[in-house]
Amino acid sequence: MENKIIEEVKQLIEEDKNTVIDLKSLNDLKIKYLGKKGIISELNSEIKNVPNEEKKNFGQMVNEVRNLFNDFYEEKKNEFETLLLNEKLSSEAIDISLPATKVVTGAPNILEKLIEEVEDVFMSMGYDVVDGPEIEYDKYNFEMLNIPKGHPARDAQDTFYLEGEEILLRSQTSPVQVRTMLEGKGKVPVRMICPGKTYRRDDDDATHSHQFMQIEGLLVDKDISLSDLKGTIDVVMKKLFGEDVESRFRPSYYQFTEPSVEVDISCFNCKGSGCNICKKTGWITVAGAGVVHPNVLRMAGYDPEVWSGFAFGFGAERLAMLKYDINDLRVFYNTDLRESRVFDRKEAE
Ligand code: DAH
Repeated sequence: MENKIIEEVKQLIEEDKNTVIDLKSLNDLKIKYLGKKGIISELNSEIKNVPNEEKKNFGQMVNEVRNLFNDFYEEKKNEFETLLLNEKLSSEAIDISLPATKVVTGAPNILEKLIEEVEDVFMSMGYDVVDGPEIEYDKYNFEMLNIPKGHPARDAQDTFYLEGEEILLRSQTSPVQVRTMLEGKGKVPVRMICPGKTYRRDDDDATHSHQFMQIEGLLVDKDISLSDLKGTIDVVMKKLFGEDVESRFRPSYYQFTEPSVEVDISCFNCKGSGCNICKKTGWITVAGAGVVHPNVLRMAGYDPEVWSGFAFGFGAERLAMLKYDINDLRVFYNTDLRESRVFDRKEAE
């Protein structure tokens, strides 16, 4: 009796095999045989009704049918899946003779790049690159730089005040000198540069911006003089603009340095004969600098009888404009990627 049922099911499977034409009909068949109420599942639940002595045999036969179906199912499934894959591959074939779509690539921001170059030169001379806050206390931006409240030197820096008279957007990176010395707690040598954003109430045009970048520098050690500053500036300018570039100091005035100087470099474009870049003078101003004022050292915890130092502040945009032949400062702050790419390419040439 049981044998007969099994044989019939086998027969039925053989017949049903012909109805399978795709993955869907194959899965329908799986439900018909192996689903909850499927034929083979029913056979399985029949086992408990079979007399004990036949149970084992019947069980084996049910297994055999199940294997029969499963083998068929797996084989067909593979067949259909391979077919589908091949169809997909041939319909999505890539025509390698088609011209490629151009991928637009970016380029480093030119100002960022210049700052990195300057950092590399100073780091090779043992300087640390440090950071400072853009929102600053009046105390660090002015007072500890020897510019007391009410001093006329403050007027030259049209400062953005944020809260009363104490908190402002730093108008220069020089407060980082003070912060570095205070943090150093008298340790020497101090050797740092700080590139960073600064703010002044200026109207934006080709050579002014209410937000611009400076690269501050400070060195404090024993017996530091203006000639150390000169040597340092010379090396850095040659690295940036070429070996035949000269630098010169002109007397100037800053509250936090004594003596103070303006740093000029010889025009790398006309080599001193006069051109548009140097406004026919043969020289270009790139930084303010000087020997650190004894008051600044003292207020920051360094005895000016023992220690001395030099400091400088480069205009970063100025350097980048000269180096990359840019005549409008605003290109650094608009977001037109094409400009970065142009400079990137120019440099690669
Ligand atoms: N902070 C000055 C400015 O913004 C530039 C400067 C001058 C920085 C002399 C210095 C310095 O460190 O020694 O105009």
